[in-house]
Amino acid sequence: MRNSVFMGIMQALLCSAILVFAADQPQVPLLIESSPDADVILEGRLCGKTDSAGFFLTRVSPGSHRVRVQKSGFYATERSVFVYDLSTRFRIILTEKPLSKTWAILAGSLLLLIVIALIIWIRHLRANYIGQFKVIREIGRGGVASVYMAKSRKHTLPLALKVMHDSLADDKDLVEKFSREGKVLSLVQKNCPGSGLAKIFEYGHTNGSVKRHYIAMEYVEGETLLDQLKRKGALERSYVLKVIHSLAATLSCCHRSGVFHRDLSPDNIIIQTESGTPILIDFGIAKNANTSYRTLDGSIAGKPAYMSPEQCQGYEISSASDVYALGILFYCLLEGGPPFTGCNPVEVIYSQVNKPFPNLSNAQYKTLNLLIASMTVKDPEKRISMEKLIKQIGMMS
Ligand SMILES: Nc1ncnc2c1ncn2[C@@H]1O[C@H](COP(=O)(O)OP(=O)(O)O)[C@@H](O)[C@H]1O
Ligand SMILES: [Mg+2]
Repeated sequence: MRNSVFMGIMQALLCSAILVFAADQPQVPLLIESSPDADVILEGRLCGKTDSAGFFLTRVSPGSHRVRVQKSGFYATERSVFVYDLSTRFRIILTEKPLSKTWAILAGSLLLLIVIALIIWIRHLRANYIGQFKVIREIGRGGVASVYMAKSRKHTLPLALKVMHDSLADDKDLVEKFSREGKVLSLVQKNCPGSGLAKIFEYGHTNGSVKRHYIAMEYVEGETLLDQLKRKGALERSYVLKVIHSLAATLSCCHRSGVFHRDLSPDNIIIQTESGTPILIDFGIAKNANTSYRTLDGSIAGKPAYMSPEQCQGYEISSASDVYALGILFYCLLEGGPPFTGCNPVEVIYSQVNKPFPNLSNAQYKTLNLLIASMTVKDPEKRISMEKLIKQIGMMS
C-alpha cells in the first residue's frame, strides 16, 4: 500500500517535472476529480492514480492540456483542460462499462448449464430405479408381478419391465415359476422370430440387499383387446378373422416349441398400433399344468371364462387347450363378451365342462358358428387342430 502511494507520488512528481521542463512555464496546481484508483494520463503519459476519494493533484503550466482518466471496467475518457494562472479543479466522470456481449452470453450459457445440471441431478435423485432400469410408470399389476414402462441405458426404446412383488421374493416356488416365464419367452422367441410375440431382452434379479426378480421385454405400443372391447363392444368380422388368424399362427409356432400358453384372454393380447399385429404376452402360466393356475390359497387363478374343460378339471394340457381358449376369444370378440359367465368361478367352470357352447347372436354368422364349434368341442381329442384352423380362416378372410 505504502509502496503504491510512494510510486503514485513519484509518478506525479516526475510527470510535473517533465511538464515543467517541457513547457518552461510557471506551474499552477491542477486538481483532477474522478473515480477512486483511476489512472491519470497527462499529454499521453501516465502521471499517477487518483486517491481513494477520487482526487489527483499535480502542477502544470497554464494553457491547454490533454487529460485522460482510465480504469478497468469503465470507459476511458480524454478531455482537453484549459489551465489558467490560478489553480484549476477539473472533474471527469467515468462511466461504468456494461458487461460485454460475449461475456454476457458466456455467463448466461453457464447459468443455463448449471440450472440444467441441477434439474437432471434432482430428477435423478427423485427417479425410481429397479436395478439398472429407470421406471417411467406402472402399466399393469397382477397377483404376482407389476409391469412398468421403463428405460435402460442399454436400450434406446422404452421397455416393459415385469417385476415380481417384493413380498413374494421369499417364496422359492413362485420365484422359480417367475423365472420360468423368462425362460419360456426366450425359448419361443428363439424359435419364432418375427412372430406376434414381444421381444425379451433379459431376465434375472437385481443385485443388492433386496433381490428384485424381473423380465425386461420390448414395450408394445398399443391397446389390449380388452381395452378395444370396452371401448367398442363387439368387433368387426373381418378384423376379428385377421386377429384370430394371426394369433393361431403365433400359437402354432409356440406349440412347435413345446410351449402351451394356457392364459389366452383379451387382456393378454396387445394390438400393436403401428402394424396392427396382435402381440401375445403373459407367458406366466405357460407350460406347467399342475401348478400354473392355482394361487397360494389353492383357489383357481387363471381366467375360468377362457379355460378349456380339461384345464378346468386339472387334466393333461395340450395344444388343443389353446385351441379351445382361442375359440372362446373368437366368440368374445364377435359378441362383445365371453360365452360363459357366472356369479362365481365355480359356476363358469361348470359351464365350461358341461354346458353346450352357444351360437353367435348374428344369424348370418353360420360358417363362423361351425368353425367356433369345432374349436370348442369338449373333448380335446376331437377339436380342430391349430394348423387346420389357420387354413380354414385363411380361406374365409
Ligand atoms: N410387453 C408389453 N408391452 C406393453 N404393455 C405390456 C407388456 N407386457 C405387459 N403389458 C401390460 O401389462 C399388463 C399386465 O401384464 P401381464 O404380463 O399380463 O401380467 P399379469 O401376469 O399380471 O397379467 C398387460 O395387460 C399389459 O397392459
Ligand atoms: Mg396378464
